[in-house]
Amino acid sequence: MSKTFYIETFGCQMNVHDSEKVRGLLEARGYSQVSSPSEAGMVLYNTCSIRDKAEQKVFSRLGGIKRQASGKTIGVLGCVAQHNGEDIFQQAPHVDFVCGSASYNALPEILDRVEAGEARVTGLSLETNETFDAPRIERDRPYSAYITIIEGCDKSCTYCVVPFTRGPERSRDSEALMREARELAARGYTEITLLGQTVNSYRDPASAGWSFARLLDEIGRLPRIRRVRFTTSHPSDFTRDIVDAIDRNESLCDWVHLPVQSGSTSVLKGMRRTYGRDEYLRCVEMIKSAERKIELSTDIIVGFPGETEADFEQTLSLLDSVQYASVFSFKYSPRRGTPAAEMQQVPEVEKGRRLRELQQRQRRIQLRRNAELIGRSEEALVERRNLKFRQWVGRTTQNRVLNFSDPSALATGRDLRGTYCQVQVTASGPNSLVGELVSAEAEPAFQGLHVLN
Ligand code: SAH
Ligand code: SF4
Ligand code: F3S
Repeated sequence: MSKTFYIETFGCQMNVHDSEKVRGLLEARGYSQVSSPSEAGMVLYNTCSIRDKAEQKVFSRLGGIKRQASGKTIGVLGCVAQHNGEDIFQQAPHVDFVCGSASYNALPEILDRVEAGEARVTGLSLETNETFDAPRIERDRPYSAYITIIEGCDKSCTYCVVPFTRGPERSRDSEALMREARELAARGYTEITLLGQTVNSYRDPASAGWSFARLLDEIGRLPRIRRVRFTTSHPSDFTRDIVDAIDRNESLCDWVHLPVQSGSTSVLKGMRRTYGRDEYLRCVEMIKSAERKIELSTDIIVGFPGETEADFEQTLSLLDSVQYASVFSFKYSPRRGTPAAEMQQVPEVEKGRRLRELQQRQRRIQLRRNAELIGRSEEALVERRNLKFRQWVGRTTQNRVLNFSDPSALATGRDLRGTYCQVQVTASGPNSLVGELVSAEAEPAFQGLHVLN
């Protein structure tokens, strides 16, 4: 039991990918992964502190594990580890070590100390110019890979903990990135998602000095790579050459996630987002002027301190203007140590009302827009099977979820995960499309699926 570990991941895709790196580190040390905390000698939580709810979830897990903790090593990784630091030992005394996302390079040393029996080990330094280049990464899926190209964040949005939890912005060397991408392609990966909190602020530290658009061009041109995505883009750094790169490379997906946060210039100012409503809309126009139809998704915060009804109306009207394919919306959650937490707050009930209204408005937009796709044929990269509905679940290049059946048994008995299928869209809902398989491709290039459940 001692050389087994369980890891649960909360938060964004960067955390998901960090966990893949941690898994690589642990497996290289002789640990093997198990699927429940009760079977594990070491239990790890890779945490998120973006909103209060996310943080609370971690403490409820730590409370739950307390009863079975004897003999187990408990570690807290990620953003709550960084933000709460040694306070975690007060709140959950059975935790053995905490390591923040800016300190993962210290993990091997931390694990040495933990394995030697040392208690309350910490890795919490934020002063770093290094990136977490794990020697071994154990990815969850053998066909779709994340690559972090830029870590940390140098923006200073007044509501956000990320600059405190992930440290300053550091870009990875383009040569190392290309090596990793080539190796992934050689191993049968066909989809690559480039990650960063502000992915398009990428600045190549190598002498080549590539721009983000150049990096997209080069990765997009790699043989066997069929889909390249990147997230999250910051509107202020979204330049024309990125749109040109998408137009040049068919493998760059027809989808951009471009968080706006609010449709009101005065709220955006309070948030210190570095753009106003008009600038954001100009950026949207530029993206929509691409030769291919690029779909947009966004993040929105309602009830930011000082947000009036008129400000909120501006956000609703922005939804109508942009016609996003999807929207992630949140009630503002005050975060310790951030400037907005000290400002005059909007009452909780009001935040709730605005959130509901916004979601209803966007739901109608998505219902209408998705219905327009009925009758079309779309290519889906298959991600999983839905046993209950006897459907496969995939994604289109525009990042829409497409559930489909195989009524004429074209692919009988085959595991379609990781393959690209041609699907006829037959129905739609607000959040997904439904269809029927038209053709499945021959055997995929990758070997074996590692699925732990
Ligand atoms: N780096 C990305 C977003 C990172 S966090 C960007 O700049 O867009 C993901 C989303 O969480 C944000 O876009 C924002 O909408 C939301 N978020 C961040 N801090 C929040 C807070 N304090 N309360 C509510 N939502 C928040
Ligand atoms: Fe947070 Fe703003 Fe940085 Fe995004 S750009 S991670 S919202 S500080
Ligand atoms: Fe959460 Fe940290 Fe990501 S706070 S959203 S896990 S960067």
